[in-house]
Amino acid sequence: MESASKSDKARLEINGKTYELPLIYGTENEIGIDISTLRSQTGAVTVDIGYKNTGSTTSSITYLDGEKGILRHRGYSIEDLAENATFLEVAYLLINGKLPNAQEYSDWDNQIRNHTLVNEDMQNIFKAWPTGSHPMGQLTALISSLSSFYPDSLDPYRDVDDQHRTIRRLIAKMPTIVAMLMKKAKGHPLIYPSNNLDYVSNFLNMTFKNVTEDYEIDPVFVEAMNKLLILHADHEQNCSASTVRIVGSSHSNLYACISAGIAALWGPLHGGANQKVIEMLEAIKEDGGDVTKYILKAKDKDDPFRLMGFGHRVYKNYDPRARIIKKSCDDILNKLGVQDPILNIAKELEETALADDYFVERKLFPNVDFYSGIIYRAMGFPVEMFTVLFALGRLPGWIAQWQEMRDENQPIGRPRQIYVGEVNREFVPMQNR
Ligand code: SDX
Repeated sequence: MESASKSDKARLEINGKTYELPLIYGTENEIGIDISTLRSQTGAVTVDIGYKNTGSTTSSITYLDGEKGILRHRGYSIEDLAENATFLEVAYLLINGKLPNAQEYSDWDNQIRNHTLVNEDMQNIFKAWPTGSHPMGQLTALISSLSSFYPDSLDPYRDVDDQHRTIRRLIAKMPTIVAMLMKKAKGHPLIYPSNNLDYVSNFLNMTFKNVTEDYEIDPVFVEAMNKLLILHADHEQNCSASTVRIVGSSHSNLYACISAGIAALWGPLHGGANQKVIEMLEAIKEDGGDVTKYILKAKDKDDPFRLMGFGHRVYKNYDPRARIIKKSCDDILNKLGVQDPILNIAKELEETALADDYFVERKLFPNVDFYSGIIYRAMGFPVEMFTVLFALGRLPGWIAQWQEMRDENQPIGRPRQIYVGEVNREFVPMQNR
């Protein structure tokens, strides 16, 4: 957009009166109407159910272009990061705003390695849960419980050193807690963190090693896990990141904010979709693999069935993360020597949908959740752990979003509404109703 044609104000007419509102331009030329004075000027508020057209903040963390299928973190493309960085490097980038040099990375890596243990009393919490509890419900509680073990975290606005310590504890302990979920679900003894392993190798060791035998860390697993965690690391103001921000805006401690983000991610329309995709593909396989039948169900307004892993609030083009994961699927399954029939069903489903007007007109493409579960399954994760793995990847993004909100000292989030209920009514005693 040429700077000459850029105006700095929007004009709004309400009932014959014209008002001016400032325009905000982002570094990628996005335009925002600053409505912070709207109500004081006009008495009106905006209404945008689901916030489809509403920006909650400015941000420097992640840029998405939904029409072009672009995703960048602090200016670096997701393709470059997935190809060249480690997840811990991307976590540093999201939280600190720049890629670490060798010394910075060494310091960061050492800080994380030395905070991986969790308090032994955390294991007592598992005794309260019935067998078969969903690990996302467990994770929500375990992350929130960290505020009990670290009471110095309870006022995140008090001391920046406390805040940085809490951030390091979360990044370091989440893999240990996720591995605990896997072991406790099987009733197996825990495998403790090993400080001489890198972040992803340590997670895989705690998750897949059995106490009775040696475990050889497969570099194919390490590469796949790094890539999957990077692809989930942040996604600007999605449902769970917005949840983390609004909970943080009341000055709740960071553990409580992340716990709230995990709860939001659990929903099948959000991060829970990766579990639903595999269940959907399995159902199609069990039903004889009739892909067309399920495409028709997805298009039928009277049928609640949706093509899970398809569609996106922002991407109206192919989700760049899905493109990378789809490409990795073949590569990783071949390297692992895994033949998974539901991968072929997924590809046939995608091909059929992308040739169908219903999906083309609505710009519904595969999203990050469509293929990710196929790799998780090939690596040996049970389907109910898939969204937990999404949360493990999203953690640095949630932290970066919370930190930006905190450092800008943003006010408590408190949207307005338009009341459409009963107007003033006189109370009638029960005997007269
Ligand atoms: C994630 O926001 C993020 O960035 C999220 C995320 C992240 O990294 O944080 O990218 C991760 O959550 C990815 C999305 C995972 N969810 C799913 O895969 C669930 C299936 N997808 C949908 O439920 C849906 O596409 C949403 C929830 C993702 C987006 O929904 P919107 O933006 O509210 O769009 P909509 O529901 O208004 O749909 C528009 C139209 C509707 O049809 P019409 O009323 O216009 O006739 O498209 C249809 C919908 O019925 N539609 C689908 C569909 N998704 C939308 N029809 C069939 N199958 C689908 N999957």
